[in-house]
Amino acid sequence: MTNALLHFRDVAVNLGGKEILRGVTSSLLRGKITALIGLNGSGKTTLLRAIIKEVPYDGQIEFRCGHDHSRPTPQHIGYVPQRLQIEARLPLTVRDLMALALQRKPLFLGISRRVNRMLEGLLQQVWLPADLLDRLVEKLSGGELQRVLLALALQPRPELLLLDEPASGIDFQHEQGYYDLLARLNRETGVTILLVSHELSVVSKHAHWVLCLKDGKIRCEGPPEETATREVVDEIFGAAKGVYTHHHHHHPTPQASG
Ligand SMILES: Nc1ncnc2c1ncn2[C@@H]1O[C@H](COP(=O)(O)OP(=O)(O)OP(=O)(O)O)[C@@H](O)[C@H]1O
Ligand SMILES: [Mg+2]
Repeated sequence: MTNALLHFRDVAVNLGGKEILRGVTSSLLRGKITALIGLNGSGKTTLLRAIIKEVPYDGQIEFRCGHDHSRPTPQHIGYVPQRLQIEARLPLTVRDLMALALQRKPLFLGISRRVNRMLEGLLQQVWLPADLLDRLVEKLSGGELQRVLLALALQPRPELLLLDEPASGIDFQHEQGYYDLLARLNRETGVTILLVSHELSVVSKHAHWVLCLKDGKIRCEGPPEETATREVVDEIFGAAKGVYTHHHHHHPTPQASG
């Protein structure tokens, strides 16, 4: 794969004395959407966290983008985590939350006109109305919060977007809109996307490449028409798991449906 934005070479992660990832060798195609699939606990989140150097790893994760990625939290990578580490019930407005993340001065000094304009532009990019800025974060729907987090991940403008199950907490109808939005961002800005998803339908429709993780190893990869099929998934992950079926209500930890 020549036009790769990122190479994994024999990546291994050990945490708490446990081998979480091993022998991960692969690439992310520049400008494409790669879907990362695998059962709960297979190491998907850990691989994303290794990319942003949130967990130590052996082997190499190499960027081919001409920027310095040696710092602990690489610039030019937008990350939307699977779970929020902050207390989502803070009495903060969306404007305050975003300004806190993007502004290098304390909120009590005010939010500059420049930052306010930037916030409106970012919301526009994720198809949210500007009046959402004055809503409380705790009052947002799951889908609105996901889009706000995506908007934050778009500044500074990333070359790589890491999205860890971005549609959890979004209902089916809004989920389609969310993935259409991602596809459009990918087309219009050329941003490379690595997307963790449990939805085969989403993967087949939007991904250009699929990585299947099983027990910390890449078990298969290829174009979605060859890898995101019911047969392949049943063979690799087992037919009884019920994970890769369509859920109309997502839950961060999808449950076996029998
Ligand atoms: N800090 C840690 N210390 C020890 N074990 C960990 C740590 N973080 C993750 N693990 C373990 O590593 C394995 C992989 O976790 P990870 O979160 O990467 O899985 P995942 O594929 O994202 O799962 P899910 O689909 O549930 O999100 C799990 O068994 C998890 O318990
Ligand atoms: Mg995970």
